[in-house]
Amino acid sequence: MHPSTFASDILAGLRASPKQLSSKWFYDERGNKLFQAIMAMPEYYLTDCEKEIFQDAGPALLAATGGRPFDLIELGAGDGSKTQYLIEHFLAAGADFVYRPIDISAHAIELLGTLIRHRWPFLPFQPIEGDYFSALNRLGSGQSGRLRLVLFPGGNIGNFTPEEAVEFLRHLRTFLRPGDLLLTGFDLKKDPAIILAAYNDATGHTAAFNLNLLARINRELSADFDLDNWRHWETYDPLSGAARSYLVAQGPQTVHIADLEEVFSFAPYEAIAVEISQKYSRQEIQAMSVAAGYTLLEHLEDARGWFTDSLWRAV
Ligand code: AVI
Repeated sequence: MHPSTFASDILAGLRASPKQLSSKWFYDERGNKLFQAIMAMPEYYLTDCEKEIFQDAGPALLAATGGRPFDLIELGAGDGSKTQYLIEHFLAAGADFVYRPIDISAHAIELLGTLIRHRWPFLPFQPIEGDYFSALNRLGSGQSGRLRLVLFPGGNIGNFTPEEAVEFLRHLRTFLRPGDLLLTGFDLKKDPAIILAAYNDATGHTAAFNLNLLARINRELSADFDLDNWRHWETYDPLSGAARSYLVAQGPQTVHIADLEEVFSFAPYEAIAVEISQKYSRQEIQAMSVAAGYTLLEHLEDARGWFTDSLWRAV
């Protein structure tokens, strides 16, 4: 039998040197709940910044569409809590658009669908279930002349390294036509103390979120990580803009992962790299837009200039 992607990914990551586990596996049921708790923390400024931006972003986005009918495509359906501001504005302005959220989770799409139908029963709503690129592929070339406005909010681009981010945005470009629009949320470089506090909160939500990955491996792959022997460790490098999370062994440990038929040994204070949350300068974002095949139209920022939703046009 072929191992699942989760199993094969965990195996490859723990065999690597240094050891690493991808943060994409944080989001099981408990991980989703912990992430909700993180987004509600005062230290985790990203959510409020982007809410502020979306409350005012409607006019700039509509201006960029030039009054053409468009598909509003959102990567990651979420709970619609930020996109609702755009939808309100677009409807009030009489825009001709179809809301097409993409999400890998059928459950997330179902919840969003219920919310949309309740709030805007007449809004054309055509969700697509699947990973981003296979869903975009299924969109095909669409109705001729219909513009695409793609939203990639939340700072998720930061969970790629800068090289991976350019590759992702370049690949995304292949699903767009010249003139199509892309709005991406980037967390900006700022006071390192503010960034570090967002990922190293005193209440321990972020620590629990990261440690939950070991609990998930225990549960889904029959492993015996002792969570009390691991500590969450966060760093921020103001030069590169990389905030990085590690899980650090608090003593020598041997972990048996039964489903992988493997035993892993950890030296005292050996670290597993689990997440990057990359921060950018405006100049770096500008360079990235060009490298990925777009022109930067505008930075939509919160009043403090901590976060930007950067509006690009495909060239
Ligand atoms: C989902 N992503 C943008 C979050 C971030 O800020 O990197 C995940 C997160 N990790 C710790 N806190 C929040």
